[in-house]
Amino acid sequence: LIAFFQPKLLAGRRLLITAGPTFEAIDPVRGITNHSSGKMGFAIARAAQEAGAEVTLVAGPVHLPTPRHVRRVDVQSAQQMHDAVLPLAAQHEVFVATAAVADWRPAQMNAHKIKKDGKKVAPTFELTENPDILAAVAALPQAPYCVGFAAESEHLLQHAREKLLRKKVPLIVGNLGPATFGRDDNTLVLVDADGHRELPTADKLSLARALVRELAERLKTSAE
Ligand code: CTP
Ligand code: CA
Repeated sequence: LIAFFQPKLLAGRRLLITAGPTFEAIDPVRGITNHSSGKMGFAIARAAQEAGAEVTLVAGPVHLPTPRHVRRVDVQSAQQMHDAVLPLAAQHEVFVATAAVADWRPAQMNAHKIKKDGKKVAPTFELTENPDILAAVAALPQAPYCVGFAAESEHLLQHAREKLLRKKVPLIVGNLGPATFGRDDNTLVLVDADGHRELPTADKLSLARALVRELAERLKTSAE
């Protein structure tokens, strides 16, 4: 019922969102991943849809139901997330990157399960860097309005400002972990070229709605 009464602040807008962790295979039965729950990204997808937006959600492996009327694309690895996102990006006005994308993947994927038998020493893995999906979208000629997320364990503002510049995006949403990772409530700070502003601690859906209001304002200003 609350959803029904949300003002349609994003009517006619298209939002593309990444959410969840990625999974980087080592062999057919093992891989590298992280504890991202996907909750924040799914909450933003829901809040944006309730605000009238057309929403595409590209999700890594998570255990969450798809929000109503949201188009969902499931992926595993960072490379797959990149390959799903890039062709979709230019068709959207906003890109919100909440995914906890693995920074590195094993340089080689073993075709068969690595067996213990006969090995005297533990195997070592060479890693190779994954593409930066947010930076790649921000660099497109028809780039949507790009919002990055930064979960940091220290020096939140400093790191968020660095990411703003490095990825060339207009807005970074920071949160100080790991206390809040996977939890239902969160404190977010909006960091842009002009400074920063904290959103009061709330559950993720309330924060997602606050972020949707913020995005609606920013889209209005950028169109003027
Ligand atoms: N991101 C991305 N693709 C990557 C890495 C990050 O799209 N390969 C996005 C995340 O979804 C997030 C933002 O970039 O919106 C910041 O991610 P973060 O991991 O904090 O930044 P990194 O540049 O990877 O820096 P570091 O992990 O060293 O803090
Ligand atoms: Ca990272």
